[in-house]
Amino acid sequence: MFGSKKDVVGIDVGASSIKLVQLQESKNGYQLKCLDRELLPPEAVVDDSIMDSSAVVMAIRDLIARNHIKSHDVATSVSGRSIIIRKISLTLMTEEELDKSIQWEAEQYIPFEISEVFLDYHILGPDPNDSGLMEVVLVAAKKDFVNEYVSVFVESGLNPVVVDIDCFAIENIYCSVYDVDALNVVAFIDMGSSGVQVNVIKDGVSVFTRDIQFGGDSYNEELQKQFGLDAQAAEKLKLGIDNGGVDTEQSLAVMQRVTDSLVQEVRRSIDFFSATFADEKVQKVYLTGGVSLAQNVVPSLAEALEIPVEVLDPFSRMQVNEKDFDLEYVKSVAPFFSVAAGLATRKVGDKL
Ligand SMILES: Nc1ncnc2c1ncn2[C@@H]1O[C@H](COP(=O)(O)OP(=O)(O)OP(=O)(O)O)[C@@H](O)[C@H]1O
Ligand SMILES: [Mg+2]
Repeated sequence: MFGSKKDVVGIDVGASSIKLVQLQESKNGYQLKCLDRELLPPEAVVDDSIMDSSAVVMAIRDLIARNHIKSHDVATSVSGRSIIIRKISLTLMTEEELDKSIQWEAEQYIPFEISEVFLDYHILGPDPNDSGLMEVVLVAAKKDFVNEYVSVFVESGLNPVVVDIDCFAIENIYCSVYDVDALNVVAFIDMGSSGVQVNVIKDGVSVFTRDIQFGGDSYNEELQKQFGLDAQAAEKLKLGIDNGGVDTEQSLAVMQRVTDSLVQEVRRSIDFFSATFADEKVQKVYLTGGVSLAQNVVPSLAEALEIPVEVLDPFSRMQVNEKDFDLEYVKSVAPFFSVAAGLATRKVGDKL
């Protein structure tokens, strides 16, 4: 219930930067109170693991201090290979019964020791193909991996009260600010620096997820290889800040090739979804993450998938006060902040 629980600050620790969002909920919806991000050094977070915790702690502390954040309660999220999200079918049972047997039921679906994971689930409803079964979304996250994230917040003097999953945070912001009833099957594609995550939801619940090891860094690697650049020069060339003496047409051609490969990978995932869920068709694709800003990504994807593609703007239907924010700026950086905004809608005491 709105207003009955304490608000939290949403902090998304990405491979390239940490994003912070603070929202205020009122009867007219959400109002943006704060958004900011801090770049991380290149090796601080690798393959979703925190390699340099002091760099991450320093960045979190900077964000909290310079934005004068008073709340210590934080919602954060994890993603990657240490997280398993599976839709499974189980014998019909009550939530209490499932609560007791989930460890045992989950064992066969999880490639990790059950004692080493945090488990959660969401009952979707009866299995349409078998009236004796029910469909359940099972989520498992490796404890040591989650604890890496929890400990950087504790070290920063904060209280990580919610640990969510990146793709669920995106679903959350979508469901909080968009007209969810308009479409029933929607795909979210989060395009970050280290990888791309595909999440298809049906009637507001995640039914299919895929991780693609191909992201913003893939552009940099290709530019470095083709033009003999270092990492920083490649990033500047990619963002159009400084071409470092490289011919623009040539660099655009290299980047388009990377975009084409990325688009093919996404298409394979969506095709796989369509083959698995023969009766369902993705009606719309929402992009999030910095790579959605790369030239031609939106039209190339729309053409390959033959589905409308739009960049999700978490703030488009929120109140953003002109006195406090440069509206053009907020719009231009919105793709980076979907996960953090979704986290900021969570409340103290929320379950996954
Ligand atoms: N205008 C742009 N064109 C192309 N790429 C861009 C642009 N702006 C940002 N990027 C890229 O987007 C990536 C950062 O996006 P984002 O902040 O969503 O990733 P992240 O959350 O840090 O990473 P991850 O989600 O993989 O952990 C970087 O690779 C960056 O170079
Ligand atoms: Mg990210």
